[in-house]
Amino acid sequence: MVNKRHTLLFAGDLVLGAEPERYMAYINNLLDSCDFRMAHLEEPYLDEMLECANEFKLTSTLEPLVGRIDLLTLAGNHFYDYGEAGVAATVQWCEKKQIAHCGGGSNISEAKKPAFVEKDGLKIGVLAYNAVGPKYTFATDTRGGVSYVNFTRAYVPEHLLDQTHTRLENDIWDLKKPVHMDTGMMGFNFIDEVSCDEICSEIAAAKDQCNLLIVYFHKGFVHQPSVVAPWEKFLSHRAIDNGADVVVSSHSHLARGIEIYKGRAIYHGLNNFICYVPQLSPLFKGKIPGDRNSDNEKWIKSRVERFGFVPDPDYPTYPFHPESIYCLAAKLIIENGSIASNRLILLKVEKDGIPRVHGNTQTGREILDYIVKITKDAELNARYKWEGDDIVIF
Ligand SMILES: [Fe+2]
Repeated sequence: MVNKRHTLLFAGDLVLGAEPERYMAYINNLLDSCDFRMAHLEEPYLDEMLECANEFKLTSTLEPLVGRIDLLTLAGNHFYDYGEAGVAATVQWCEKKQIAHCGGGSNISEAKKPAFVEKDGLKIGVLAYNAVGPKYTFATDTRGGVSYVNFTRAYVPEHLLDQTHTRLENDIWDLKKPVHMDTGMMGFNFIDEVSCDEICSEIAAAKDQCNLLIVYFHKGFVHQPSVVAPWEKFLSHRAIDNGADVVVSSHSHLARGIEIYKGRAIYHGLNNFICYVPQLSPLFKGKIPGDRNSDNEKWIKSRVERFGFVPDPDYPTYPFHPESIYCLAAKLIIENGSIASNRLILLKVEKDGIPRVHGNTQTGREILDYIVKITKDAELNARYKWEGDDIVIF
């Protein structure tokens, strides 16, 4: 067994944008200080402009990740934004740069393959699934895309539904939101049983091949603070029941609290790591990504109406919910081949859109207060204490 102590960092969504070096300036030291560095790549990467792409949506280069990130998860809702070309180019880039990757590929068996990284005889496996849709991102036997948690629709007579509960479902399911199908009938989406069982088997099989397994779910209701839906807990519990040593998630552009289940940590939402998206700002002047004929102002207004907040104009490249400035990275201390300590690294995004790492300072304590609040609001059970500049989860 591995005797050396290792540190592993898993961070949230990466959209590196136009100036990756500048946006990574304050996190490089953090990355350099860890033995294993992982994050979620939210958009496919192309090194040439495609007709379906948009200059504001294209990351200029991923080169600053080389030597600083060991593994990227690809199973997100944007991975098929540039179709097969984007899927192929991203996978090729990762392979050329020797960055391990999982959750996306040229067909479903490629997308489902776990990724492994190894150091000093310690082998860490990662599986990644898109749990938010849309279904066109899902890879098939003959088509590229992501590994996924499938969902299926069922129809329920409205008069049998508890209205409080129905409203809650409507609020938290986003792409899986219930819809009126006929008079008095509601259509709901649920996690597909076959898909869930398949994921459990894949987790068990991957665990057999490594010392420590991380399962990543791209999940969470976007732009809605605190909420962790019952299905998110269920899915994460099933992952741990079947061999995951830790579950990590991102997607909602907001941080989520942590849950301890059977002694293992579930990071329900790490929020963004770096997210450069000026095209989503109300101040943005230019063509909307993916829709060359649409009316910017109208589109931005409908986005504001849909999500219920107006982005702060002082954050022109980071037009998210006001609470989205608080971000997390999961830090694991690994001893003798297992997790000795689950921790948090705290980050805050400033008006320039650049995240800064904060230890036990006034700003660090402000971020921790927020994490304590959202943990309590979501009725999660983790508690936190400072150890140096890390937060230890217990
Ligand atoms: Fe996402």
